[in-house]
Amino acid sequence: MKETVTAALYAPSADFVRRAHVKGLDEWRVLFERAQNDPEGFWGELADKELYWFEKWSKVLDWSNPPFAKWFAGAKTNISYNCLDRHLDGPRKNKAAIIWEGEPGDQRILTYQDLHRFVCRFANVLKSRGFKAGDRAVIYMPMIPEAAIAMLACARLGIVHSVVFAGFSSEALKARIQDLEAGLVITADGGWRRGKEVKLKLTADEALAECPTVRDVIVYRRTGSEIPMMDGRDYWWHELDDTVGDHCPAEALDSEHPLYVLYTSGTTGKPKGILHTTGGYLLQCTMTMKWVFDIREEDAYWCSADIGWVTGHSYIVYGPLSIGATSVMYEGAPDTPRFDRWWRIIEKYRINVFYTSPTAIRALIRQGDHWPNEHDLSSLRLLGSVGEPINPAAWEWYHRVIGKGRCPIVDTWWQTETGSIMIAPMPGAVPLKPGSGTLPLPGIAADIVDMRGQPVAADREGFLVIRQPWPSMLRTIWGDPGRFKEQYWTRYPGVYFTGDAARRDADGYFWILGRVDDVMNVSGHRLSTMEIESALVRHPKVAEAAVVGKPHEITGQAVCCFVTLKKGDHDIDSLAQELRQWVAHEIGGFARPEEIRFTDTLPKTRSGKIMRRLLREIVTSHSVTGDVTTLEDLGVITKLAAQQEEE
Ligand code: PRX
Repeated sequence: MKETVTAALYAPSADFVRRAHVKGLDEWRVLFERAQNDPEGFWGELADKELYWFEKWSKVLDWSNPPFAKWFAGAKTNISYNCLDRHLDGPRKNKAAIIWEGEPGDQRILTYQDLHRFVCRFANVLKSRGFKAGDRAVIYMPMIPEAAIAMLACARLGIVHSVVFAGFSSEALKARIQDLEAGLVITADGGWRRGKEVKLKLTADEALAECPTVRDVIVYRRTGSEIPMMDGRDYWWHELDDTVGDHCPAEALDSEHPLYVLYTSGTTGKPKGILHTTGGYLLQCTMTMKWVFDIREEDAYWCSADIGWVTGHSYIVYGPLSIGATSVMYEGAPDTPRFDRWWRIIEKYRINVFYTSPTAIRALIRQGDHWPNEHDLSSLRLLGSVGEPINPAAWEWYHRVIGKGRCPIVDTWWQTETGSIMIAPMPGAVPLKPGSGTLPLPGIAADIVDMRGQPVAADREGFLVIRQPWPSMLRTIWGDPGRFKEQYWTRYPGVYFTGDAARRDADGYFWILGRVDDVMNVSGHRLSTMEIESALVRHPKVAEAAVVGKPHEITGQAVCCFVTLKKGDHDIDSLAQELRQWVAHEIGGFARPEEIRFTDTLPKTRSGKIMRRLLREIVTSHSVTGDVTTLEDLGVITKLAAQQEEE
């Protein structure tokens, strides 16, 4: 609590304020109050001004059947049209839409006109293969412009896309294709990561063996390596491209037409397919590019996220292209070939606005200041952070060493479910406090409540909730509206439950404290304890498993697994390795556990529920220590837990 009282305030410079979209707190207040007093009028006016509609809506918000919201009901629009076609009539026609750099150093610059042409051609490919509005396409690609092209081509026709992060395993890919009953998979031979080829097509083939709904697989040639192509199912992107023309009108889609499904971890073993739709989603992505990233026409803007996460969707593709910005995209790792790769990119493209995660910042701090100091970072004007709380020390370093004390840092709180940024400073208006996302954006009714749903007093911890619908909110969980209601809307009826704990200081600033459920945040990526547990118990030697997040200096949290084994002789050392690898195979390399602890028993309640809370205490307070591969007797704790239950 102390830091909220003593936190230094960083106000924007007069020069920054003068040129900002929202200048000073008075302007911020006008927007905020307007949104509060008349949310529908507020969003309706912005939708009118900022987006192109083929037909206007009959009602801004239909909330007659909560929690199923409809924004701009009855209106017709198209996201691909808004991101491309509408920029072609003016000076943006030959402006760079995407500046891309591959890990090996190759480079491509796609103007708005180029991108429009590529998207139209690929949409024609999809049409020629018989795909249409409402069909589902899974995109499993490296960070290359074609990933964005595939997304925009689907959006152009109303095909619902689901991007699966290229770090996911064949098992995870298969589960997603099956859940969506996708008819199409768009992939590549491979991509480059740390100098090695990530062989996407081979991984996709493993998944596809059990995905009977998939009719076509379209493969982009990125690395040029030899890959098997299945006759009658697999097609080369470039060969199909040869057969189509440049002209493909954007479909006039309903504002509520499904745009994409993005899977994220929840509190069960099964990932949730978060559904986002069209008009409302695009409006909030567009507005936050202005409000939070304060984008100017001439900016080079770089979001270092991967397109496989929601940040890549909203802030590499849809938000930046909708406002006609130049979005920089990089394929590979930050340390390839050396630890200055990112700083090199900032210097080379004269990046003005840079958006990354606290984990990346902490990893780069560890490599030393000489890496950024070797580069001219003077083009930077604004820095952003997302994915997890940023600790004040990392904030200060980012501000001083990267921003040279000149650049405000926008700490942006949001979720896959919220679709776009919800709590963040408008940098020309709101003074910053390191570690706080500051204030909710206009139209976002964020609050912090106790168990009964009552607002808590200043500086008290509580649950972060959103009291009113917002345009880019999730609409449901794909195929499971019951889970959607139950997970987000039943704890406090009609109010959205975020799953985060937070507190608000006396100035009204929000401080996010982390998850209150069994979801871990590792390197800014959400992982479910249950998902990893389910993966572990699928291993033939594992009897039971319990997984908790353990504090980690760089990644925020790390995956720590307590495992009991089935009877038999086990080579503990090699089994620990094997289980780490197993989880990587079942979910993806990024979920590989940091630590496997073998134990005879797990602490349980009388009803047999594993008491993860106790395990969390063990890994947090180190009250039980041990080598990662030694057998640990948790019998004592088990008894303790049982006693506590009886009391
Ligand atoms: O716990 C919050 C944390 O990340 C969760 C959302 O994860 P995901 O859906 O994967 O989206 C990440 C990118 C938007 C939140 O519930 N989180 C996200 N941003 C912040 C944050 N925690 C603190 N500060 C943030 N700026």
